Order: sequence, then C-alpha cells, then structure tokens
Amino acid sequence: MPSMEKFPVGWRLLHWLMAVMVLISIPTGLWMASRAEADLWGELTNALYSWHKAIGFSVLLLMVLRIAIKVRYKTPPYPQEMPRKLQLAAKSVHHLLYILLILTPLLGWAGVTAFPALVTVGGYDLPAMPLVPEDRELAARLFEIHGVLAITLAVLIAVHIAAAFRHMFRKDGIFRRMV
Ligand code: HEM
Repeated sequence: MPSMEKFPVGWRLLHWLMAVMVLISIPTGLWMASRAEADLWGELTNALYSWHKAIGFSVLLLMVLRIAIKVRYKTPPYPQEMPRKLQLAAKSVHHLLYILLILTPLLGWAGVTAFPALVTVGGYDLPAMPLVPEDRELAARLFEIHGVLAITLAVLIAVHIAAAFRHMFRKDGIFRRMV
C-alpha cells in the first residue's frame, strides 16, 4: 500500500465522531417525524425529538470547529496517479457535504425557534436563533426544507461511503488517511 500523508489526528477524530452523530440524526429524524405524522405522542417520541435536536445542534457547533481546522490545516494532497476528474469529483462531494452539514442543522434550529420547541435532553433549552420570529406556518416551511436537505445529505453520504469502500478495497492508501 502506498504511504501517504494522513489527516491530522484531531481532524480524523472529528470526522468519525461527526459521522456517528449524523448517522444517528437521520434515522431518528425520520422515525420521530413518522411518529408525529401518525399522531403517536408520548415518552418515546419526545425522547427522539430531544436527542435529535441535541445531537443535530452539536453537529452544527462541531462544524464550526471543523471548518476552522480545514482552514488552518491543508487537506493532504491526493496521489499524482489519481485521475484529475476523480480528484475533482471527490472535492466537489466533500464541499457539498460541508455545505449540507451547515444548512441542514441550521434549518432545523430555525424551525424549532419559529415553532417554538427548543427543549432538548434533560429539559435544557437550546438558544433561540436570532431574528427568527415565532410563527407556526414559517416553522412548517422550515421543517419541510430541513427534511429535503437531510434526504439530500443522506444520498450524498451514501455516495461518500461507497467511494470510501472503493478506496478501501483497492488499497490505494486514501481510505487509511482518515483512519
Ligand atoms: C446534521 C444534522 C441533522 C440531520 C442529518 C437531521 C435530519 C433530519 C431528518 C432526516 C428528519 C426527518 C425529515 C422528514 O421526514 O420530514 C428531521 C426532522 C426534524 N429535525 Fe432534524 N436533522 C439535523 C439537525 C437538526 C437540528 C439541529 C434540529 C433542531 C435543533 C432539528 C430538528 C428537527 C425537527 C423538529 C424535525 C421534525 C420536523 C417535523 O416534525 O416536521 N434537526 N431531521
């Protein structure tokens, strides 16, 4: 396997921590939304909402740190033999992931501010998003956009994971840079 510069250790830790958090946020979001639509309220639904909001909001905070790391440290270069088109495709997917990992939680946060439904795990409230008025109709529209962004994010994550597996099986060293 070719030896290659790895991502800095903090970057790798943040990558895997956020991967777990996002992979929890998507199914809990779908599950709680389907329970709400079926009018199934109770302890489980409330817990799903609370955890979803807490984990999703933490993803937003961690994205700030992640962007700071990305600006501070340069991404290790791809090997020269990797086709330019593939490098461009990989970079495009990564940039889109960054954009969606900011926009998706931002829209969720805006939605719960407008609703308002800011309570999370242990009864702690999230801060309200500045400049967002209390308005149920606005909240419904924000949740709709939040859902569309989340599904787009899920599709992009599937592409990202498929590419990661391809690198892993080809043993070209790219997968190991993030492990
Ligand atoms: C990366 C972070 C996040 C992901 C991947 C994510 C994902 C999802 C998904 C897949 C749904 C279901 C959409 C649907 O079926 O319509 C959902 C719903 C929801 N999310 Fe998130 N979410 C994230 C962050 C947040 C944050 C930060 C908040 C609030 C602080 C939030 C609040 C909500 C609420 C309240 C709903 C239910 C909307 C409804 O009942 O119509 N989410 N989310």
